[in-house]
Amino acid sequence: MARVAVVGAGYVGATTAACLAHLGHEVVCADLDEDLVAALNRAEVPILEAQLPELIREGIAAGRLSFVVGAAKAAEGADFVFLCVNTPQGPGGEADLRYVEAAVSEIAPVLAPGTIVVNKSTMPVGSAATVRALLREAGVADGHVEVATNPEFLQEGTAVREFLNPSRIVIGVETEEAAVRLSLLYRKLQARIIVTDPVSAEMVKYASNAYLATRISFINSVANLCEAVGADVSDVALGMGYDPRIGFAALKPGPGYGGSCLPKDTAALLATAASAGYPFDHLRTTVEVNAAQRERVVEKLRAVAGGTLDGCPVGVWGLAFKAGTDDVRDSPALEIAARLVEEGALITAYDPAASPAAVASAAPAVKVVDDPYDACEGAWLLAVLTEWDEFRWLDFGRVAGLMAGSAVVDARNILDPDALRARGISYEGIGRR
Ligand code: NAD
Ligand code: UGA
Repeated sequence: MARVAVVGAGYVGATTAACLAHLGHEVVCADLDEDLVAALNRAEVPILEAQLPELIREGIAAGRLSFVVGAAKAAEGADFVFLCVNTPQGPGGEADLRYVEAAVSEIAPVLAPGTIVVNKSTMPVGSAATVRALLREAGVADGHVEVATNPEFLQEGTAVREFLNPSRIVIGVETEEAAVRLSLLYRKLQARIIVTDPVSAEMVKYASNAYLATRISFINSVANLCEAVGADVSDVALGMGYDPRIGFAALKPGPGYGGSCLPKDTAALLATAASAGYPFDHLRTTVEVNAAQRERVVEKLRAVAGGTLDGCPVGVWGLAFKAGTDDVRDSPALEIAARLVEEGALITAYDPAASPAAVASAAPAVKVVDDPYDACEGAWLLAVLTEWDEFRWLDFGRVAGLMAGSAVVDARNILDPDALRARGISYEGIGRR
C-alpha cells in the first residue's frame, strides 16, 4: 500500500484517485475548487462517469480516499504525487503549462525525500525535464525526488473501466528503482507495462491521440468520397474493419472529432513539430479535414433547408462531444448548433446529459429542452449531432407528426434510413445511401 497524492480532481484526477484507492492505496486528492472538493467528500460526483460515484463512495467509506483544497495538503508525506491538472491549448496551439507550474510550486516545499512526482496530465515532450527544473527553481535539490511520466489513455464516459483494465501502462523514468516502484503501484491490474525514458513516454501519448484523430479524419474523408461516388461508408468501414490489421476503433464517420483532448493534443503536437523544425504535414491535414468536416455538416443542413437557414426552426438531438458523457468542451455538436444560430436558424436542442448551464454559457441562443420530442415540435428539419443510443429507439411516427418539415440529417449515422423513409421522413447521413 502506498500513500498517493493526486493533484486535480477533474475527469482524470478523480478517476485516478478513486481507482488507486480501490486498488488498496491511501489517496488524498486535491483541487482548487472548494465546492467540488466538498461535493466529492460527500461522494457527490458532478460529472457523468460510469462507476465513479460507486468507487468514490467505497474509497471514502474504507477511509482510503479523501479530497482536500490545495495541492500541498495532499502532497505532504506522499510516496507519489500524481499531477492531473488541466493542460489547455495555448494561443499558438502549444500546451499551456501554467496549471502544472502552479501545482509544482505548491507541492515543492512539502515533498518528502524519495517521492516520485508523476506527470499524468498530457504534457509535451520535454515536460518531465521542465517539472524537474521547476522543482529545482522552487528549492528542491537534485536527487531529493524523482520525476516520472505516466500518461493516461482513458476515454471519458468509460474512464473507470479503462483505468482498471488498461490496454497498456506506459512509464517514462530515469531510474530502474522508479520503474519498479511505479509498476508495483499497479500490480493488482496485471496490465502490460512499457518502461521507457520520459521523452518517449510523452511522445507515446501525443502520437496515440494524433493517430486516433488521423483515423477519424481518414474515415470522414472516405465518407465524403462515398457521397461523391455513390458508395455507403457503413459497409465500407465494416469491410475495412474486419481486417485485423485495421480494426474498427476510431473508424466511425461523423461531424469530426471533438472533446477536451484530441483537438488540443493534435494542435500541441503540431506546435512541438514546428518548434523542432519538422513539418508534420500529415497531422496538419488531419486537423484541417476535421475543421472542414464540422463545416460540411452545416453545409448539408443549409442545403436540406433549401439554401438558407435564416429563420429556419431546427431540432437538434445531441450536444455532448460524444455519447456517454456530459462534457461539451470543444463539442462538434455544440459548435455546429452555434454555427446554425449564426446563420439565423432557431435551434431547440435535447441532450440526455449535457449540462444546460455549460450549453448556455457556450451557446446562449440555443434553447435546451428536456425531451427529445419537444426538440422536434415545429422543426423544419432535425439534426442528430451526438450518437446517444436512445435516439435509435424513439418513435419516428411521432417525430414525423411533430415536425413541420420532414428532413433528418443524421451526422452520426445512427438511425435506420429505411425506417425513417417508410414514415415519410427524408434521411441524409454522412457518406450513406
Ligand atoms: P479537468 O479540467 O476536468 O480537471 C483538471 C482539474 O485540475 C480541475 O478541477 C482544476 O480545478 C484542477 N486544478 C488545476 N490547478 C490545480 C492546482 N494547482 N491544484 C489542485 N487542482 C488544480 O481536466 P481533465 O479532463 O481531468 O484532464 C486533466 C489532464 O489529463 C489534461 O492534461 C488532459 O489532457 C489529460 N487527459 C484527459 C483525459 C480525459 O479524457 N479527460 C484523458 C487522458 C488524459
Ligand atoms: C480520447 C482518446 O480516445 C483517449 O485514449 C485519450 O486518453 C483521451 O482522448 C485524452 O487524451 O484525453 P476522449 O476524448 O474521451 O478520449 O474521446 P474519444 O472517445 O476518443 O472521442 C473523441 C472524439 O472523436 C469525439 O468527438 C467522438 O465523437 C469522435 N469520434 C470517435 C468519431 O468521430 N469517430 C470515431 O470512430 C471515434
